[in-house]
Amino acid sequence: MVANGKTITAAKINGRAYPIVDHTFDVVVVGAGGAGLRAVVGCAKAGLRAACVTKVFPTRSHTVAAQGGVAAALANMGPDDWKWHMYDTVKGSDWLGDQDAIEYLCRNAPQAVYELEHWGVPFSRTEDGRIYQRPFGGMTTDFGQGPPAQRTCAAADRTGHAMLHTLYGQALRHDAEFFTEYFAIDLIVDASGQVRGVICLKMDDGTIHRFRAALTMLATGGYGRAYLSATSAHTCTGDGGAMALRAGLPLQDMEFVQFHPTGIYGAGCLITEGARGEGGYLTNSEGERFMERYAPSVKDLAPRDMVSRAITVEVREGRGVGRRKDHAYLHLEHIDAAILHERLPGISETAKIFAGVDVTRQPIPVLPTVHYNMGGIPTNFHGEVLTKKGKDTEAVVPGLMAIGEAACVSVHGANRLGSNSLIDIVVFGRAAALRAAELVKPGEAQPDLPADSADLALARLDRFRYAAGSASTAELRLKMQRNMQSHCAVYRTAEVLEEGVAAIGEVWKESEDVKISDRSLIWNSDLIETLEFDNLIVQAAVTITSARDRKESRGAHAREDFPERDDKNWMKHTLATIDPANKSVAIDYRPVHSYTMTKEVSYIEPKARVY
Ligand code: FUM
Repeated sequence: MVANGKTITAAKINGRAYPIVDHTFDVVVVGAGGAGLRAVVGCAKAGLRAACVTKVFPTRSHTVAAQGGVAAALANMGPDDWKWHMYDTVKGSDWLGDQDAIEYLCRNAPQAVYELEHWGVPFSRTEDGRIYQRPFGGMTTDFGQGPPAQRTCAAADRTGHAMLHTLYGQALRHDAEFFTEYFAIDLIVDASGQVRGVICLKMDDGTIHRFRAALTMLATGGYGRAYLSATSAHTCTGDGGAMALRAGLPLQDMEFVQFHPTGIYGAGCLITEGARGEGGYLTNSEGERFMERYAPSVKDLAPRDMVSRAITVEVREGRGVGRRKDHAYLHLEHIDAAILHERLPGISETAKIFAGVDVTRQPIPVLPTVHYNMGGIPTNFHGEVLTKKGKDTEAVVPGLMAIGEAACVSVHGANRLGSNSLIDIVVFGRAAALRAAELVKPGEAQPDLPADSADLALARLDRFRYAAGSASTAELRLKMQRNMQSHCAVYRTAEVLEEGVAAIGEVWKESEDVKISDRSLIWNSDLIETLEFDNLIVQAAVTITSARDRKESRGAHAREDFPERDDKNWMKHTLATIDPANKSVAIDYRPVHSYTMTKEVSYIEPKARVY
């Protein structure tokens, strides 16, 4: 017997016995970032028996690194309206976002922030004690006609840290059960296509755990580590997205990869957009505030895709700074040191450590760095996973939900606005829990799992555990990362993308020749990194193939050979699936929603996206 479960069987894979510890829950949430924790809290509050399985200790999840804030139209610093937030989000998405989902997000945002406040998030405060809000890129007033909105609620520049710790406290308060340092290997899918749970490896003792659940929620985050330079933690390997792909499900809009304009040059660490929200600005080698040319009205507070492109153009045209003229400067030295200390203490420290810069005196060297995946597992705004079945482009996958960066609801469309990620995770984490409470009766009996329900996952584990090829995981990963960085970057062309598709395909094939040196199951980082690489490479392949096939420019997908947005042919979501045996990608599409959730707002008609 093992705590929290019991051993009922031992699967045999390639003649080797893998004893399995069984658990049954109403809901199992995979991932303990902000989305996973908010969902777990909601499920537990609804009386559901909820488990949270996570490969890192919950407060080490990547949400902890989110800096600048969480968007909600609270109107604490001036007039604001959730409908203006909705307009900005639709425009920011370059009209690829589904407007019913965007309405749901922006309408529910203020309540979600007040809930966080009541749960204990230590937000920064205004003089009169209200939540402090700062300007962020693409957030405006009066349907884009007014000045920038101060809409981003901040806890200095450590907002994600504050939210994650508070949410973890709430999850413990509501008796959610945590399975910490359990690595999810694969979903359990029965013959009817219903998802029935997940198979995990407990990393510290090498035991295998089978979680049976009426609902499985993937809250596994993004896959930024498919690239060489990313603000994402090394744990951001898109484990949920890869599990969905292996289960035959599509990933949506994967070509839309967000580059944050201000990663520290060389190190890639994030310098929050809040720095520009507090008055920071960018310059080139001529000392010019070049954003004035690219976005005359909002300048340095343009959305990220535009600022990243502007820096790239400045560098290409010879106006980059530094010895190699290959980056830009972010200036904060004109801002009162007391304000920097109060509102931007975290990035002041990061700049010192990683760039050797004292922000009160010197500019920070910055470069666009991979930051966020707009694409992911397609869902509706309840968090239910969708797939294409015949003519039905939105068939619900029974038993499976996805939330947070792992999901594509789609509220961010082709380009996410800064601070819309932290609001996404709490609004849709809550929505998924509400849906779970409608779908599942607490303690309801679940059918037995087929005897071979762990075999697929264990075969995957066993294959890598005994892999005896000639290429190390580190070599393969580096090849993948370099190729994604150079072939699927801020600007793209058919030629470079085609080369990239071939190069990533090669790495995917070479992964059959991977070599693992440690055969044990106990704290085997060689094995875990290989499983993570295997998760990354399939998502790299669908990303670059989706990018090659989308022949237009929209949001973060900037094609030099197709510089215009083409609504007639391309206002549609990409759906990418894989054939793991042949290591190939298939591309399909589904329509963007051309309707809102309620009659209170009307569909926002597409127009040119200028700021
Ligand atoms: O710049 C930042 O603080 C990042 C925020 C975000 O990605 O939403």
